[in-house]
Amino acid sequence: MSPASDPHWWKRTTVYQIYPRSFADSNGDGIGDLRGVLGKLDYLQSLGVETLWLSPFFQSPQADFGYDISDYKAISPDYGTLADCNELIKKVHARGMKLVFDMVLNHTSDQHPWFLSSRSSSLNNKRDWYLWRDGRQPHGKSPPNNWRSMLGGSGWHYDANTGQWYFASFLANQPDLNYRNPEVKQAMLGIVSHWLDAGADGLRLDIFNALFKDASFADNPFSCRPVPTESNPHGFFQKHIHTIDHPDTIAFALELRAVVDRYHSPERFLVGEVFGDAAMLKRYCGDAAQGLHLVFLFESLRAHASGPEIRALISEFEASFPAPYTPTYVYGNHDRPRLALRIRNHEEKAKLLAAIQLTVRGVPFIYYGEEIGMENHDIPLHEGLDPVAARFRLIPQFLVRWLRRRGVLLNRDECRSPMQWTAGPNAGFAAPSAKPWLPIHPNHLRINVATQSERPDSLLNCYRALLALRRELPALQAGALEWIEISGMPRSLVAFRRTIANAVPGVDVFLNFSSRACALDLSAQSGRTLFSSRDASRIAAPREYQLAPHEAVILFGEALQSSQ
Ligand code: NOJ
Repeated sequence: MSPASDPHWWKRTTVYQIYPRSFADSNGDGIGDLRGVLGKLDYLQSLGVETLWLSPFFQSPQADFGYDISDYKAISPDYGTLADCNELIKKVHARGMKLVFDMVLNHTSDQHPWFLSSRSSSLNNKRDWYLWRDGRQPHGKSPPNNWRSMLGGSGWHYDANTGQWYFASFLANQPDLNYRNPEVKQAMLGIVSHWLDAGADGLRLDIFNALFKDASFADNPFSCRPVPTESNPHGFFQKHIHTIDHPDTIAFALELRAVVDRYHSPERFLVGEVFGDAAMLKRYCGDAAQGLHLVFLFESLRAHASGPEIRALISEFEASFPAPYTPTYVYGNHDRPRLALRIRNHEEKAKLLAAIQLTVRGVPFIYYGEEIGMENHDIPLHEGLDPVAARFRLIPQFLVRWLRRRGVLLNRDECRSPMQWTAGPNAGFAAPSAKPWLPIHPNHLRINVATQSERPDSLLNCYRALLALRRELPALQAGALEWIEISGMPRSLVAFRRTIANAVPGVDVFLNFSSRACALDLSAQSGRTLFSSRDASRIAAPREYQLAPHEAVILFGEALQSSQ
């Protein structure tokens, strides 16, 4: 079944994340925009990705570059107009592709008219749309309780006008909505329906785990953990039991799913930004898969090119998210160090990891520029435009580097540098006369789409070939995964088969994570087609094959008549 005709198309799709501000600037103001994305649809289609997720482009003061929304139904002039947005939806669909919008349900901008009203007076009818409390007695000048924000430090902010405090899970200018107020819930579900009606095929849910806070407003208990991680969101010396993963948030996931399920043709999907161990993440998907369709499995953000590590990761995802659940594989996003940093810009390792992401069971999320191996741009904290960088500007550089190596970015500008299209001025991101909103990485002379398109063995061409294979082979989109065990197999070799019930032979994947060659006995596969990550070629499989260091091969179908 082709992805287009599959009702559960979202289980087998491939997602490409666009950070609109950094993707392509169509009007010379140095800021990427929707018309810029429109101008790159040929590229995206020829790359072979099927679904585009755009980070928020709604009306916003841009204090957190779009994750602070002041009008959920309007488009920020930085990015274009409503007409541009509608054209994008239409043109993406005309190509048989899909579009995912980013929904920031947890908080609004402090410039949203709702919050402006809410903070104007404690008697205002929008007061209860946000979380307002008196400070601790006797004077009310200390925060109401010990709840911390996700960045550390108290999440409470004092408002001198009304003498009360409001809560924000992230930055002070992103006040949290009060989901215990039915009007808020209705308003936000209305926004969800608005964009589904407009044609969004899926919604990415920003910090979904923070939606409901405990009605008791009791202190969070102490924890020894200093820093939260992907698999454990507790940290800053407290267990965030009253602010994160509240049972009411998990119940809301099911309620939201019911809203989305009203849309059938095509089916729409929800992917949640939630953190925690597999058991917690799965709760968001519902015990009968009736919750969020997908959740980001951020453990894959830490993936290194190591055989045992990758095998453990896949095994864990397979065990925790068996069908009908679908795991996700994410190597980078607009908050995290780029994949290239983790693998020290090793092109063959990047191809190997791409081969996993695109052949394993699950939905791959590819961050823009990953397909050409874009690197982090080392921008000092004090130069960062990112509000998180501003908040941590006094942290010494050695600590910034230490955290970066551990997957924590204090200056997220580093992974948001403009897309590198060409070796020309402004890397082809913006007109030569424009001043890009973030500096262009100097390595664009070497790492760019145009140069890599020309080189048959480039990372870009490897992505293209892998994405083409995935579209061609139903087993790669929807097949079950089983390990291939060969006696004497080195631990650095990862091998699995994808099979689809009642179908012709499955697809075999062999990944060599070693820097040494490895001999493969392919007598069981001889007569089939062999694809190699080394040069994206397809040849008839020999009986024996020498896997080069960091080479991935995929075997499928019948033999080719002759080598291509
Ligand atoms: C998570 C988003 O990915 C991040 O970029 C944003 O700053 C915060 N949520 C707050 O919305």
